[in-house]
Amino acid sequence: LRADYDKIIQIMQNLADNAFNYTLGEGLITLGAYHEAEHKAVVLYVKDTGVGIPESVGERVFDRFFRGDEYQEVKLDTPGTGLGLSIVKSLVEIHGGSIWYESEVGKGTTFFVRLPVVEESAALSQSNN
Ligand SMILES: Nc1ncnc2c1ncn2[C@@H]1O[C@H](COP(=O)(O)OP(=O)(O)O)[C@@H](O)[C@H]1O
Ligand SMILES: [Mg+2]
Repeated sequence: LRADYDKIIQIMQNLADNAFNYTLGEGLITLGAYHEAEHKAVVLYVKDTGVGIPESVGERVFDRFFRGDEYQEVKLDTPGTGLGLSIVKSLVEIHGGSIWYESEVGKGTTFFVRLPVVEESAALSQSNN
């Protein structure tokens, strides 16, 4: 991957925090990754069985200071500034990646992060610079 590991951990930590914060009571949180040869990319994902995000929110979920106060009561109990996902999106884009999510209210949410893979020889010559 082109991204350094600290940044990847920061991205996953933020998404996992949200998965925990927005899952009430019993739930299941799954972290995973798969390789996409055709995109020369790796997709990381964080899936939860939480409260979900209404379709009307769309891309606003990535806006700075956006919190789900229009539809969520959980947010009152969860610490947060509404900055997490905007920072995650910047980090992903700085590394040439993309982020998107799928969600169903009452069922859960999955956030996906696609990061480009670099050839090992390219990665080596980069680190020698
Ligand atoms: N996994 C998730 N499930 C449901 N809602 C989520 C999830 N992740 C984020 N959200 C919604 O998006 C909003 C913004 O998330 P974020 O930028 O991380 O800010 P914060 O967690 O500080 O509120 C949250 O307040 C919440 O309403
Ligand atoms: Mg958050």
